[in-house]
Amino acid sequence: MSNNNVQIFDTTLRDGEQVPGCKLNTEQKLIIAEQLDILGVDVIEAGFPVSSPGDFKSVEAISKIIKNATVCGLTRSVENDIKVAAEALKYAKRPRIHTGIGTSDSHIKYKFKSTQEDILERAFHAVKYAKSFVEDVEFYAEDAGRTDNEYLARVCEAVIKAGATVLNIPDTTGYCLPSEYGAKIKYLKENVKGIDKAILSCHCHNDLGLATANSIEGVINGARQIECTINGIGERAGNTALEEVVMILKQHPYLNLDTRIKTEMLYGISQLVSESMGIYTQPNKAIVGANAFAHSSGIHQDGVIKKRETYEIIDPKDVGVTESAIVLTARSGRAALAYRAKNLGYELTKLQLDDIYTSFLDFADNKKQVDDDDIHQIIEHSKLYKEI
Ligand code: KIV
Ligand code: ZN
Repeated sequence: MSNNNVQIFDTTLRDGEQVPGCKLNTEQKLIIAEQLDILGVDVIEAGFPVSSPGDFKSVEAISKIIKNATVCGLTRSVENDIKVAAEALKYAKRPRIHTGIGTSDSHIKYKFKSTQEDILERAFHAVKYAKSFVEDVEFYAEDAGRTDNEYLARVCEAVIKAGATVLNIPDTTGYCLPSEYGAKIKYLKENVKGIDKAILSCHCHNDLGLATANSIEGVINGARQIECTINGIGERAGNTALEEVVMILKQHPYLNLDTRIKTEMLYGISQLVSESMGIYTQPNKAIVGANAFAHSSGIHQDGVIKKRETYEIIDPKDVGVTESAIVLTARSGRAALAYRAKNLGYELTKLQLDDIYTSFLDFADNKKQVDDDDIHQIIEHSKLYKEI
């Protein structure tokens, strides 16, 4: 693997599925997992096997069918969790155990009522134990975003010694600023002994709307894996959106960071996840929202019709959207009306267009969006259109 490759770790089926009311059954999970594999994700986090018999069954079933990606199961730093995850993953071609523990002061003091030294030991033992089942062990330092860097570096060193090859640095509460998160990754890259034996992974939550920005800062500062979900779904404000980080790296080639994702599948898989989970995607969602490639103001429409790139930084076909949409509203100009009319088979003269545009504006002032049927009606009722 080249050092410029950013691994895409998809956690739609684990962290993403923690959204209240969005439970998927095993069959739905299998369909999504298969699509994720074809999409080209490097790792599929299939679930948290010890959490329920249903989750165990899903992780086991996904392990059996996935051909290319690593299949991963989450655990706490608890022997039984790890044993159960290893059992669920036993059919996987490439199994990974993702174990970890909270490392911030609030986790240590209030959740575990423990000490930094005890947590460090538990982390070491969890990784050692996981290593007795699988070669590929990832460690997460929960709430790393609010963990003191020096202590975090000590935890990272200990788990590398125990055999972890991926170190997940979650901003569990979505608290960090991009500059802070980037600096944390840089600090770990520069201060953890043995870091050349492992890769750092970004796992960012979106409580302040910064998950994508933080993940990108993470890879700019040396991380080589991003943990993300389709449509950014996940608990509270969600996780880093897979489609966003992938397209940011693709659209900024000078960063010299690539993924293996087949971007033309992004729109389709976004629809699949949204429909399976019953979560509606906001229309202005970057990359996959219904309006991501729709233009409604006259100035923008005129620019896009003349040259698409004037107002679009992504070719919609690159993410699986057939074409940009010119949406007719009362803000649209003559160029957009002529363009849509032409697509419907009407070649209008300048005089006809002027006449029709006036009727169009009267109509559009009373309707949010003018559709093809409305355009037919407006044109067919125009006196000038009939006369010429
Ligand atoms: O956000 C988080 O800290 C997590 C870990 C369990 C990896 O999801
Ligand atoms: Zn998370």
